[in-house]
Amino acid sequence: MTQDEQKQAVAREAIRYVVDGAWIGVGSGSTANMFIDELGRIKPRIRGAVASSVKTAERLKSHGIEVEELNNVSDIPVYVDGADEVTERGAMIKGGGGALTREKVVAAVAHRFVCIADASKLVGVLGRFPLPVEVIPMARSYVARELVKLGGFPAWRMGFTTDNGNVVLDVSGLSIVDPAGLEERINGIAGVVTVGLFARRGADVVLLGGDAGVRTLVPGT
Ligand code: 5RP
Repeated sequence: MTQDEQKQAVAREAIRYVVDGAWIGVGSGSTANMFIDELGRIKPRIRGAVASSVKTAERLKSHGIEVEELNNVSDIPVYVDGADEVTERGAMIKGGGGALTREKVVAAVAHRFVCIADASKLVGVLGRFPLPVEVIPMARSYVARELVKLGGFPAWRMGFTTDNGNVVLDVSGLSIVDPAGLEERINGIAGVVTVGLFARRGADVVLLGGDAGVRTLVPGT
């Protein structure tokens, strides 16, 4: 299967996790987009969706799916999103598309995080993909210096502004053996809005594409 066929397969498989009559949290990126297209086929079954980015909201609406503000929704049984890297334990790097903060917030509200990814995203140790960190603009240089102290090489994602009006530093050179510890450490730097490490609240289910079809990993078991 090609990478796109794998993304398609996991997007289709994720529909099995959708809870009828409920709100669904929807992530961002090319794999999440394929999930949105699948969701469009079963839209009468759901109450509506909470989007993790402006682009996702637009795509959901283009399918006629009602999009609700997170502030108006208290119960999201399932959140479905892609990842830039994921481990068998469900820890992820996210934010390649720059939607990490809203993704983390919607994921925090959801009871179950279903990660959908093609096989290339599975890693033993996180960090080959540069770790995105959303930062308020005036703190960019300070946060970059602090990230260097942690052993990383931050690069400013030039010309990119998040949906929240902030900037992103992509940090390469990290070998992340303690994802939850590093998540906490980076989140503690003044000026950091969100680090794209999703370890303290990782995936509950990982649907992984592959030549033999979709593999289902349940990290907590
Ligand atoms: C966006 C994300 C995406 O989930 C991540 O970048 C994966 O994207 P894709 O499905 O296109 O590979 O975190 O902020």
